[in-house]
Amino acid sequence: MPSTVQELRAKFDQALIAAFGEEMAGTDPMLVPASNPKFGDYQCNVAMSLTKALKNNPRAIATQIIEQLDVSEICEPPEIAGPGFINLRLKPEYLETELNTVLTDERLGIPKVDDPQNVIVDFSSPNIAKEMHVGHLRSTIIGDSIARVLEFLNHEVLRLNHVGDWGTQFGMLITYLREVYPEALTTADALDLGDLVAFYRKAKIRFDEDEEFKEASRKEVVKLQAGAEDSRRAWGILCEQSRREFQVIYDLLDIKLEERGESFYNPLLPKVVEDLDKTGLLEENQGAKCVFLEGFQNKEGEALPLIVQKSDGGYNYATTDLAALRYRINKDGADRIIYVTDAGQANHFAQVWQVARKAGWIPDNVEVVHVPFGLVLGEDGKKLKTRSGETVRLRDLLDEAINRARKDLEMRLKEEGRTESEAFINNVAQVVGMSAVKYADLSQNRTSNYVFSFDKMLSLQGNTAPYLLYAYVRIQGIRRKGEIDFKQVGTEAKIKLQEEAELTLAKHLLQLNEVIETVEKELLPNRLCQYLFELSQKFNQFYDQCPVLKAEDVQRISRLALCDLTARTLKLGLSLLGISVLERM
Ligand code: ARG
Repeated sequence: MPSTVQELRAKFDQALIAAFGEEMAGTDPMLVPASNPKFGDYQCNVAMSLTKALKNNPRAIATQIIEQLDVSEICEPPEIAGPGFINLRLKPEYLETELNTVLTDERLGIPKVDDPQNVIVDFSSPNIAKEMHVGHLRSTIIGDSIARVLEFLNHEVLRLNHVGDWGTQFGMLITYLREVYPEALTTADALDLGDLVAFYRKAKIRFDEDEEFKEASRKEVVKLQAGAEDSRRAWGILCEQSRREFQVIYDLLDIKLEERGESFYNPLLPKVVEDLDKTGLLEENQGAKCVFLEGFQNKEGEALPLIVQKSDGGYNYATTDLAALRYRINKDGADRIIYVTDAGQANHFAQVWQVARKAGWIPDNVEVVHVPFGLVLGEDGKKLKTRSGETVRLRDLLDEAINRARKDLEMRLKEEGRTESEAFINNVAQVVGMSAVKYADLSQNRTSNYVFSFDKMLSLQGNTAPYLLYAYVRIQGIRRKGEIDFKQVGTEAKIKLQEEAELTLAKHLLQLNEVIETVEKELLPNRLCQYLFELSQKFNQFYDQCPVLKAEDVQRISRLALCDLTARTLKLGLSLLGISVLERM
């Protein structure tokens, strides 16, 4: 079903045409939510923007519009205010009809898109043999949520993990592997290398202190690139080890991803350079092959180059992204490619796309988007570090969230005099811990830095996962006491709105559609978080002011149905954030 805003837009479109002629078709009515509920629910600002074109004052224009505006089924009679705003207030009968329709719909009134796109979400993308750090955690959480929203809308989504599994560091790693586990290169058994990050550090020390080791590493890169079997095997062992460590994190966070690392595009790199050469864009500069960029300059004001092949013949991160871009467009048939990385990579993507555009590799109907995000800060406002100043291991961080959630829960159980099974406690701790971490990240506007605080994210108060989960649990409690099958409520109940708190909740429930539409376009999951937070608040106000279980007949059923719809909206909304609900907590 169309959202209220969509319905109103269509009505304004008709009115504008009726009032001022066909050429008005498609004019944006500039509908916004009313700034103050006193003035109604929506405000239309279009009259002010038409004064020049129509050579009239905005109030007169607004009058002409509402003379033609047929919204009697949706709103009370529109009112003109100030210089020429048109204020609209939704009718309770309209809200009731809409809600009763949503109530019987599994998708809660959110239509699937008519024209599904092929979307690639490139996210998480850690680097082999290096630490998966909090930046990757942000990418993982944000990328997963974006993918979930697009999937729900019926887009065809390919979730790609562009892992850094290729590059000169493998020369050093394989050389070290040969030194410490020579048997690994000949036996068929998988190898447990233990902590790969520690392994990396030790390899790096060897590399820095020993010239012979350094030379061997250089040769090893060449061998690997040439496809020597034992080098390939060593490389495979290192990748497999990392993969296992990453998978622990993905399992904890319930993340599905398809690995297609940098190495996948390796065979395609020479062709990228060759084709760039054909377009005439390629230049040689001190032995390196590059394309000079527009809008990127050094301190002297000279154009910066994007190097696609180094003087030693090696390729760069950017070359791989050029190859990946071509593959995704030509082979995967992508219509929209979304890259979720820290804001620090904005220039990298702008440069790659500039070169690809100039080469004619990005057709007009393909959209490439960078979804940047800020840093994760500690409570001291500096980059998140452990007490001893080291980078925080994701595994430790997630474990701590779960442990703290367990402690909070055990304390609460004690206070409430409840006893619960070990299985119950483990499950709640796990869900609350992981939800808290995800939600704390998603609820921030991703472009800003965010402060990582276990205390804040696990609090039952405020814009947190526990607060939302608790609202859901509260409703489930009502349901159990109501002794009424909510499924039955869904088909038979009729929502009747009387109290102000009911109307407020009802209006909010009907905005889910608009919110999801915004997330689809702007790729900002925090909009959905804000919506769900306000939903919980409005539900709590409703529940404080309107008796549900003690109400009589029709009102009781109606209010139970409002509870049901709130719970289902919370559950759906949270699932799009990658958060699962609890029946009790
Ligand atoms: N591996 C990179 C990093 O850790 C992120 C890759 C992002 N995706 C891409 N297509 N460049 O920073």
